[in-house]
Amino acid sequence: MKKILVTGAKGQLAQCIKDAAPKGDNFEIHYLTRANLDITDAGAIGAHFGRNTYDYCINTAAYTNVEQAESDQEQAYLINASSVQHLAEACKKQEGVFIQISTDYVFDGTKKTPYLETDKTNPINVYGASKLKGEEVLAQTMERYFILRTSWLYSQYGHNFLNTILKNSAAGKLLTITTEQIGTPTNANDLAKCIWSIIISKTKKYGLYHYSNSGEGTWYDFASEILKNSNQLQTTKLAKTKHYPTFAKRPAYSVLSSHKIEVLLGVKAPDWKESLQQLITNIV
Ligand SMILES: NC(=O)c1ccc[n+]([C@@H]2O[C@H](COP(=O)([O-])OP(=O)(O)OC[C@H]3O[C@@H](n4cnc5c(N)ncnc54)[C@H](OP(=O)(O)O)[C@@H]3O)[C@@H](O)[C@H]2O)c1
Repeated sequence: MKKILVTGAKGQLAQCIKDAAPKGDNFEIHYLTRANLDITDAGAIGAHFGRNTYDYCINTAAYTNVEQAESDQEQAYLINASSVQHLAEACKKQEGVFIQISTDYVFDGTKKTPYLETDKTNPINVYGASKLKGEEVLAQTMERYFILRTSWLYSQYGHNFLNTILKNSAAGKLLTITTEQIGTPTNANDLAKCIWSIIISKTKKYGLYHYSNSGEGTWYDFASEILKNSNQLQTTKLAKTKHYPTFAKRPAYSVLSSHKIEVLLGVKAPDWKESLQQLITNIV
């Protein structure tokens, strides 16, 4: 039996990991919320790993508020970088495998074709920089790790673009959405399945991978598809804007190539529009 830790258990990805977990008794999985294990508390990490030995540590806990990170740099780095190091050190001592989730925002967005794992990073906001630092400290701490960079995550859980659009369209609000950035909306349920595939495959091809749904679009395209699939496109006031003012800069283009992980696992990442349609059909 493999023992697995999932941090940040109240987050959307952790809940999707729970939904996608294989049935049966091959795995003992501990889902820990911030209240159960605050990853900024090195003492708590030490005590917890003293009581439990994990084969895999999946770290979904993160400082994810991109806007707020600009004025809260210290906390963003504490959660997204220093805490990753503490967790990785504890995991390494037990010879476990660490799975870290990172982001397309490690790139500056100047490329015009999908980003590869070998492309140069150059974050343009604090969140992206803190997540990149987390990747670096993990790679310096241990060898048995997977870093999965993903993009524009949404799901049926929590605060995300899908739920915000559904809520605001139902409230009859005017939705003004930017066409300025191009990326790939990624269903967190698909990413969760990818994480389980890595574990079940027992692959030892550790390292850095990109995983997003396939295809690309703007936030405006994402909103349009949400409304189309929830049959609200005709009744909702949807407007395009070239520039939507924000504190944090965003990369103009942050499409990720999932080719490397598709080859590793022998599966194709689903098309973003199809995956979105499937999820909306299930929840609306
Ligand atoms: N969301 C996106 O668009 C996106 C895009 C690319 C990459 N990612 C990455 O994907 C991963 C999962 O993101 P998500 O969308 O699932 O984020 P999420 O829904 O915001 O969940 C993050 C969770 O981390 C928890 N957390 C924060 N600080 C913590 C701490 N000190 N100790 C323990 N738990 C803590 C939060 O707890 P509370 O609930 O108590 O606040 C929250 O439940 C993250 O690594 C994120 O950087 C996300």
